[in-house]
Amino acid sequence: EKGGFDHFMLKEIYEQPRSIRDCMRGRINCEQGKIALGGIKEYAEKLKNVERIIIVACGTSWHAGLTGEYLIEEYSRIPVEVEYASEFRYRNPIITEKDVVVAISQSGETADTMAAIEIAKEKGATIFGICNVVGASIPRITHAGVYTHAGPEIGVASTKAFTAQVTVLTLMALYIAQQKGTLTTSKLTSLLTELNGIPEKIQAVLATNELIKNIAEKVKDSRNCLFLGRGSGFPVALEGALKLKEISYIHAEGYPAAEMKHGPIALIDKEMPVVFIATKNSSYEKVVSNIQEVKARKGIVIAIVTSGDREVEKMVDYCIEIPDADEAFLPLLATIPLQLLAYHIAVMRGCNVDQPRNLAKSVTVE
Ligand code: M6R
Repeated sequence: EKGGFDHFMLKEIYEQPRSIRDCMRGRINCEQGKIALGGIKEYAEKLKNVERIIIVACGTSWHAGLTGEYLIEEYSRIPVEVEYASEFRYRNPIITEKDVVVAISQSGETADTMAAIEIAKEKGATIFGICNVVGASIPRITHAGVYTHAGPEIGVASTKAFTAQVTVLTLMALYIAQQKGTLTTSKLTSLLTELNGIPEKIQAVLATNELIKNIAEKVKDSRNCLFLGRGSGFPVALEGALKLKEISYIHAEGYPAAEMKHGPIALIDKEMPVVFIATKNSSYEKVVSNIQEVKARKGIVIAIVTSGDREVEKMVDYCIEIPDADEAFLPLLATIPLQLLAYHIAVMRGCNVDQPRNLAKSVTVE
């Protein structure tokens, strides 16, 4: 059942080229630059005029929500707020019938996310779900939704469900842009063509597995680890830190790279691994200077870089190259090495990777 892999988590990491393809199947037409999302098509008009989108989720799904904020604001120019479902439900949130609330949940059973949906529904908002488990509770209480179609995820640490959620959010952002006309057909065509090529690029990232295993060997005994990124690399940093802490029990924190100097920099010494998302995009130069700041304090730097980057390679301890891609698609690629890094470290530390202590696959209590 593990398909020859030692753990479900590794199997699910390797499934991502296929799960992302399944998620896009029948939804994109690259030649015509068109997106079809059957589950929400009745709301196409609503989306055209919506003034605000609120995303609610927990854990990894909340990280996917942050990538969604970036994508939707960038392409459809609609303001997005991303909320922890647990906070939202107890905050007397300001919601009106004009709002669209998007609830993201792999299991479709998370108690806090369900409660947040009920509150938003009472206030008259339109609720969409982004779920993986077909027929779960959340898809039954939402007005409409888009399934991720990643297939069953057994490992408690979410991997393929996350990249499928990000894929759906990308499709949703482009779908809204298509309705609103905020992107030209030629831009949509080029973005969809690139999105369509992402599974193949993920295959290339998976080929760095042995290198990542070697890096894991070097840092597996660390007590702490920092993950830093900017822009769409920030949610990737948060997700990398969550993966590491939940399965290896190493204390890990994700931060926007520029926040480093407002506190976390005090932690850096020769024992501290710092993982940077340092791909060639709009924040590249800024991230490079953050790397220099960490190296000046003798931190151990692991950098996720765009293939062919020799500049960062010279500065850091370990480099993992990923294929070049539009900034919007960075989370889909840069997350993969972090999943593998967490996996190998946890295995080397003798942890129960698929069922980490104190955690359940679906959190049905608040
Ligand atoms: O099923 P959900 O997506 O609603 O679950 C939300 C979180 O409980 C979940 O993402 C959790 O953080 C995972 N263990 C992360 O790997």
